[in-house]
Amino acid sequence: MAKIPVSLIEEIKERSPIDEVVSRYVQLKRAGSNLTARCPFHSERTPSFVVFPSTQSFYCFGCGAGGDVITFLMRIENLEYMDALRTLAERAGVTLPESDAAGGVETVSRRRLYDMNRDAARYYRDQLFDEKIGADARRYLTDRGLSPAVIKRFGLGFAPDDFGAMSRHMKGLGYTDAELTAGFLCKISEKNGRPYDMFRGRVMFPIIDTSGRVIAFGGRVMGDGKPKYLNSSDTPVFKKSRNLFALNYAKNNCADEMILCEGYMDVIALHAAGFGNAVATLGTALTPEQARIMTKYTKRVILTYDSDEAGQRADARGIGLLSEVGLDVRILKLQGAKDPDEFIRKYGADAFRDALAGSDGKFTHTLKSIMDKYTGGDPDTKLKMTREVNEYIAGIDSAVEREIYINQASAALGISADSIKSDVSFIINKNRRRGRKEEQGKLLREASGIGDRVNRDKLTKLHAASCEETVLGMLASFPEYLARSSNGEPLTKDDFSTEFGRRAFSAMAEIYAENGSFDIGAAAGVLTPDEISRITKLAVGRSRLDNGEDVFDANVAALRAEKSRQLAKGEDAFDAIRRLREKNKGNT
Ligand code: CTP
Ligand code: MN
Repeated sequence: MAKIPVSLIEEIKERSPIDEVVSRYVQLKRAGSNLTARCPFHSERTPSFVVFPSTQSFYCFGCGAGGDVITFLMRIENLEYMDALRTLAERAGVTLPESDAAGGVETVSRRRLYDMNRDAARYYRDQLFDEKIGADARRYLTDRGLSPAVIKRFGLGFAPDDFGAMSRHMKGLGYTDAELTAGFLCKISEKNGRPYDMFRGRVMFPIIDTSGRVIAFGGRVMGDGKPKYLNSSDTPVFKKSRNLFALNYAKNNCADEMILCEGYMDVIALHAAGFGNAVATLGTALTPEQARIMTKYTKRVILTYDSDEAGQRADARGIGLLSEVGLDVRILKLQGAKDPDEFIRKYGADAFRDALAGSDGKFTHTLKSIMDKYTGGDPDTKLKMTREVNEYIAGIDSAVEREIYINQASAALGISADSIKSDVSFIINKNRRRGRKEEQGKLLREASGIGDRVNRDKLTKLHAASCEETVLGMLASFPEYLARSSNGEPLTKDDFSTEFGRRAFSAMAEIYAENGSFDIGAAAGVLTPDEISRITKLAVGRSRLDNGEDVFDANVAALRAEKSRQLAKGEDAFDAIRRLREKNKGNT
């Protein structure tokens, strides 16, 4: 594990205020000296996510996620520790030591991968425009209606049907097999252990990030071969769950709304027809990260998935994810064509614009889909259909929104608004009662350590665990206690009774010993996200309590008493043996 000095971590954090970073993802509201929001890490209606500017930390009282700005970024962008640090450092203008020197985190540097992808894109493009080699591919693209200008704008290319043409060219430019393999441009043959070109005989779609760097490729066969599309797997510069095709262009055209479709060709056809706000996912279903990224650029997303069953399911998922991050969602069902590309070729851009204007809002779409599902007009079917609509309405937070939907549903279903309203209220109350019960059960289990995954020893060592929590909470908030001799003896990891306590303390003590200070952000490279969350929770829990030296010493004394009691009971025989061994080693 790379060791970044705490001083550098502190500098990065100083220049990356947590409220500023968090507010790029959620809308923070002021609550006294802190800020609250609906938690981005679990689904909730009332905000239990709190940002504490005074300690530069966050904690969600609902799901228990917590930490500092580094761990926040790790969680929300799904990044490794070093990548989160690097992202923050870049933004803050702080230079990190080269990752290779810092312990070989990556074998191939990111800069090298960016360069390599750019050179590969150039190569594929040159092949496409090569008189002979690219003739079929050019015809394929022209037949699909793409003009040379559009082909150039999207940087399309062609990978010749050859196992080594691309890599020969790239090696000529100085790239190694290891680099080509790390970037997913080559794959190692299982037969002879030699690398061969990944993309062969395919039209190439470079995937470009919002900084204009080529980060990956999609390649389409020109006939009916399989797979139809081949996409780069994730590499150190590419996470398919966190990028969108054509966002590099769409980001400047989508302040009001963005069109989300399924395919590369749909996006290209839309841009060519004047809809420069179209993007697509990269061969996978929409992810929560992508939904969050969209909120950076737009207010409203229009879903234009295929009209088949898979498309329907994708719609439902998309509506949920996009609404959850606060985006207004509309759904476009195209008539007479399977996707936007086909639609525009058949009916033209104006027809598409009309279709866009007639897209359905979230509720209209849901109501239609539910009504489509239940065919046949018998009372039982109608009852089931109405129930499903009511359940959906009951799940909506805003009373105003509910009222509008109730009226709409009443008209569509032919049932009085009053009846629907009273059934909806009934469902809401039922859900509330159930929610409260679950909440109470959770609190009870938590207090007794049942199901505590972070501190598995809590259940059997409840008293020790609670003293430990106090001590760890104080250490995290006041690191100078790490140097304190309580009752004449410095605290050691052996004073702790639970595995979690020992791990947490060791990490803190080690960082403190090396740096003369402690920062939870430095521990994020050593402890798990859940452990970091727990320590943050403990620190937050100390905020309004007495954190004086006598409280600290008393808890340390209680820890030690508890430990000797357990040793006497033989509960920790292994620990005792280990300690004796180490002591003996020291004596000889
Ligand atoms: N896709 C993929 N792998 C496949 C098929 C599809 O990754 N084997 C992804 C591609 O990103 C593609 C999108 O899913 O753009 C939509 O697929 P599909 O609807 O099958 O293709 P179209 O976009 O309509 O592609 P085309 O018009 O080229 O047939
Ligand atoms: Mn298509």
